[in-house]
Amino acid sequence: MSIHVLDAMSREGFEELHALHDRRSGLRAFLGIHDTTRGPAFGGIRRWKYRDERSALSDCLRLSRAMTHKCALADLSAGGAKLVILDGGDEDWEAAYRHIGRVVERMAGRFYTGPDVGTGPIELSWLSQETAFATDPGPAGPGLLAESTAEGVFRGIEASLEHLDGEVDWPARRMVIQGLGAVGANLARRLVEQGATVLAADLDEELARRVCEELGLERLDPTRVISSPCDVFSPCALGGILHDVTLGRLDCRVVAGGANNVLAKSLHGDLLHERGILVPPDFVLNCGALIRGTIFHLEGRRESVEAIGLRIKGVLEQVLTRSQDEDAPPARVAVREAEERIAAWRDA
Ligand code: NAI
Ligand code: PHE
Repeated sequence: MSIHVLDAMSREGFEELHALHDRRSGLRAFLGIHDTTRGPAFGGIRRWKYRDERSALSDCLRLSRAMTHKCALADLSAGGAKLVILDGGDEDWEAAYRHIGRVVERMAGRFYTGPDVGTGPIELSWLSQETAFATDPGPAGPGLLAESTAEGVFRGIEASLEHLDGEVDWPARRMVIQGLGAVGANLARRLVEQGATVLAADLDEELARRVCEELGLERLDPTRVISSPCDVFSPCALGGILHDVTLGRLDCRVVAGGANNVLAKSLHGDLLHERGILVPPDFVLNCGALIRGTIFHLEGRRESVEAIGLRIKGVLEQVLTRSQDEDAPPARVAVREAEERIAAWRDA
C-alpha cells in the first residue's frame, strides 16, 4: 500500500489507527481515532465492499476526522472516530461484530460506536451483547438515531432556503433525494408533510418502489438523480458524489443531505460556491444521531428529536452568516471554526 499512514496521521492530527483482523470470522477492519481532546471518541461502523485496502483506509481517516468536526461544531464533549469494515463477501458477520464488541469493550470508554452504512439494528444488537460502549438498538439504547439525523437535515434545508429567499414556502419547492434508506426515507416523509414536491431514487429498486408508493414520491432513475432540476438536491446515500464529472450536471440551488463527506475534495465546494450553489456543510446538518448518542451515553438522558433539529439549525445559521460576511464557502468556514475550537481546547 503506497499510502504514508503516519504522515497522513500527523498532517491531520490523528491520535490512533488500529488495523483489526480476526482469524475466526475473517473480519478485516480499520479503526481511526482522530481526537479525544474534548472527550471520548464517537464514530459509527461502516461496512462496505471497498475496491481495495487503500480506499477503506482513506475512507476511515476522512470519516473519523469529519466526526471530530461534527462534535466541535455541535459543542459536544466528545471527539471523532470511525470503524470501517472491508466486506469481503464471506465473513461470519455475527462473530465479526462480536469480536469488534470485545475490542471496543477493552477500550473501556475511549471509543463509543453506533450505526452507519451496513451496520443496523441486527449488528448493533450483537455489539451490545459484548460492550456497553455501543448504541443498543432496543429500549435500553438512545433510540431515534436516524430520525434525529433526518430532523437535523430537514431543519438545515429550512435554514438554507430561509438564508437564500427569506422564507421557506415548502409547497413551491421541488426536492430530489438520493438514497431512501434510514435517513432519506425519514427526510422524505418530513418534506411531504410540509407539502413539498419530492422526487427520489435508490439503487435498491424494491426499496425505492415501496417508499415512493408509501409516501407519494415521484421515483427517479438513480443515474439521473444528480442532474434532475430542483431547488434542493439531498444526497442521503454515500459520500464523494460531487466531483469533477458530476459537478457540472447539478441543476439545483442547494445541496443538503445526510451523507457524510459529500464533496470529493474541498475544492469542489469552492467551485459550487463560485457558481452560487449553496452547500451547507454535511457535518453540521447530519450530526443529529451523534447529538442524541453522545447525550445519551455521556449524560444519561434522551434529547428530543425536535430540540436536536433546532440546535442544528442554530449552528448552521451562524455558519451561513459567517460565510456570507466573508464570502467564503460554508464548508471552509465550518472546518476553520471547528479547528479553532479544538486548538483552543487543546491549549486550555
Ligand atoms: P442506509 O444504508 O440506511 O441507506 C443508504 C441508502 O442509499 C441505501 O438504501 C442504498 O441502497 C442507497 N444508495 C447507495 N448508493 C446509492 C446511489 N448511488 N443512488 C441511490 N441510492 C443509493 O444509510 P443511512 O443510515 O440512511 O445513511 C445515509 C447516509 O447518511 C450515509 O452516508 C451515512 O454515513 C450518513 N449518516 C447517517 C446517519 C444516521 O443516523 N443513520 C448519521 C450521519 C450520517
Ligand atoms: N454514525 C453517526 C454519524 O455518522 C454517529 C454516531 C456514532 C451515532 C456513535 C451514535 C453513536 O454521525
